[in-house]
Amino acid sequence: MLGSNVQSALSPDAKSRAGLLLKKLTLTEKIGQMVQVNGQQGEISGELRQGIISGSIGSVLNEVNPEIVQEMQRLAQEQSRHGIPLLIGRDVIHGFKIGQPIPLGQAATWNPDLVEAGAQAAALEASQAGINWTFSPMVDICRDPRWGRVAEGYGEDPVLASEMGKAMVRGYQNGSQAQLLSCLKHFAGYGASESGRDYNTTYIPEIELQNVYFPPFLAGLEAGCLSIMPSFSDLNGLPPSGNGWLMRDILRKAWGFQGFVVSDWESIPQLQVHGICEDRLASAGKAVQAGINLDMASHVYAENLQAMVESDQLQENLIDDLVLEILAVKYQMGLFDSHGQKTVTPSQQKNVIQVAQQLAEQSMVLLKNADKVLPLDKNSSGHFLLVGPMADQPLEQLGTWVFDVEQANSITLKTALENELGESLSFHPGLQTSRDQSHVQFKAVSKMAKAADLVILALGEEAILSGEAHCRTDIRLPGAQEALISAVAELGTPIIAIVMAGRPLVMEAVIDKFDGLLYAWHPGSMAGPALVNVLLGNTNPSGKLPMTIPRAVGQVPIYYGHGNTGKPATPETVIGLDDIDPHASQLSVGNTSFHLDVAPSPQFCFGFGLSYSQFVYGDLRFSRESLKPDQSLEVSVLLENTGPVDGVEVAQLYIRDPVASVTRPVRQLKKFQRVALKSQTSIKLIFSIQWQDLSFFNGSSWLVEAGIIEIYVGGSSDARLGGQIQLVTS
Ligand code: NOJ
Repeated sequence: MLGSNVQSALSPDAKSRAGLLLKKLTLTEKIGQMVQVNGQQGEISGELRQGIISGSIGSVLNEVNPEIVQEMQRLAQEQSRHGIPLLIGRDVIHGFKIGQPIPLGQAATWNPDLVEAGAQAAALEASQAGINWTFSPMVDICRDPRWGRVAEGYGEDPVLASEMGKAMVRGYQNGSQAQLLSCLKHFAGYGASESGRDYNTTYIPEIELQNVYFPPFLAGLEAGCLSIMPSFSDLNGLPPSGNGWLMRDILRKAWGFQGFVVSDWESIPQLQVHGICEDRLASAGKAVQAGINLDMASHVYAENLQAMVESDQLQENLIDDLVLEILAVKYQMGLFDSHGQKTVTPSQQKNVIQVAQQLAEQSMVLLKNADKVLPLDKNSSGHFLLVGPMADQPLEQLGTWVFDVEQANSITLKTALENELGESLSFHPGLQTSRDQSHVQFKAVSKMAKAADLVILALGEEAILSGEAHCRTDIRLPGAQEALISAVAELGTPIIAIVMAGRPLVMEAVIDKFDGLLYAWHPGSMAGPALVNVLLGNTNPSGKLPMTIPRAVGQVPIYYGHGNTGKPATPETVIGLDDIDPHASQLSVGNTSFHLDVAPSPQFCFGFGLSYSQFVYGDLRFSRESLKPDQSLEVSVLLENTGPVDGVEVAQLYIRDPVASVTRPVRQLKKFQRVALKSQTSIKLIFSIQWQDLSFFNGSSWLVEAGIIEIYVGGSSDARLGGQIQLVTS
């Protein structure tokens, strides 16, 4: 894990050109490269113009007017002394003008190639506005769905998040048509903010940082990412914007990172608010010492660094090192060489829309399909009723981070279903918004539901209920949605529920009322057509959960890769558990680890997702019984589609190390493959495992220990088909 090839992201040429340029800069110009200011939304004030020309601004964020961006670059490149181009940053997180599914939904595709294509499409659109840097991907592992920013990441698992993060970096940076510098965030541990409250404190021991929170960052750097952003949250008593261990010892020394670190929005002066610096000046000094190259928005570097160097409070060579890293990245990106913005051709634009729709379709996770209620038969003589606050909400289906997404591009479920079903569809919103508490419309809905053969409920959360600083303690369906479900369910008409949400929601109280349940996250602009394709079976659902869905919020944090404890719950020790009502009081025999008022299992486990096909796993074989360093192990399995239609399965390989020098998770995802399989056919899948794949951090170093490793392969983290091999270290 630590033998990374992070360094190769920066060419020797970029480094040497940066070195030569640095020598020509005055101290003021050097500090200017460390200053990022907020744009002025369509104008360039005299102060901004002067700042760019004098070389005291190196980067601007949040300016998306192409003419303004072009003018700012012209000022920087043609009128400033050294012609250093600006980094133009923007949160391009899941699409630009065309909204793609939220990142958590993208993770549910388990399809890195498609996610890469999505990032490439977003880069293409954004680069037209002159944006050359996105603050994405967010690779914070999160095991707490109360946290609003869970929407913006890739879920609970380091391997899945690593693959997704790498795909995003490749897509943004390696596009043939356009390139955006990517930025891994938020280093590190932000997703562990206590009680799922944004910006809250975190205490994460190094063993957990190394095994769980760091790997997606390292993976993203290995994919070539050249910028990184610290977490707002305090980590073990040291907020990352002032944390030299994180930014220097780990990032630069251990991993060899040669890009630059941009603070989060005003996170440098927040060192004072956290209580580790007495004023803004001290905060600026602390951030420089810690290795934060660029100050986002706060002006604290612009205000203080020059005087600090001139009064010997700060050494100029610290500034030099930080500026060198920024300049090298600007060279590496080719910013000094490229001019002008590209335009998107009609066929590229079509592709942007297609990719958004494919991502949406593949992100949807079929969680329940009793009596094969799905796919719908649109040619049946039946009448369909569409009900719910998320059925016709062009903005709410987009999710968080949609600064630039054009709402007019959204196609809702109602519009798309009406196109397909025409007169056989009726619609009633039931509730005006997802938070609407009113039961006023229920009578009318009940009347319509009674007359229908099938009800499609479009439920979920409005976009504003997830995202930065939008955390919740009660993560059930908000407003009167549970009551709406009960009102409809009383009539006995079959119900298909579609949930559009920014997080896993607790659905325990209503889940039995659904015949079908499709979890769609916030699917983006193309929600309607994508949902219709899945509902009608034009697309066979293939999404798998990137995060555990809890039965009760009190179970949080609940995740598949937990420790075993010394007293794991077993069916023998948990008694009084009523399958019909998992909240019934329980008793235990022998004091095992569970809550008295909820079943010990999750509602749906990580990796779970149904299909209209039926997948069966068998014939698990290992290429060897024991594995030594530098050897690889091939694990093969026979996957069969015994269902009536062609489908796509995400086959997952998990390991367990049952005896190690430190406790290890009961399951760990190591590999996965998306496989298309025709009905009634089978395929032999091969997973290749390298020695390094089995390493872990034991508290002081990364190592592989001798002993047994259990291996499981299947369609979720609950895979039962398994065997074991022996690891031999000498
Ligand atoms: C604050 C957020 O934490 C960060 O993720 C984002 O990129 C910046 N603001 C810039 O908008």
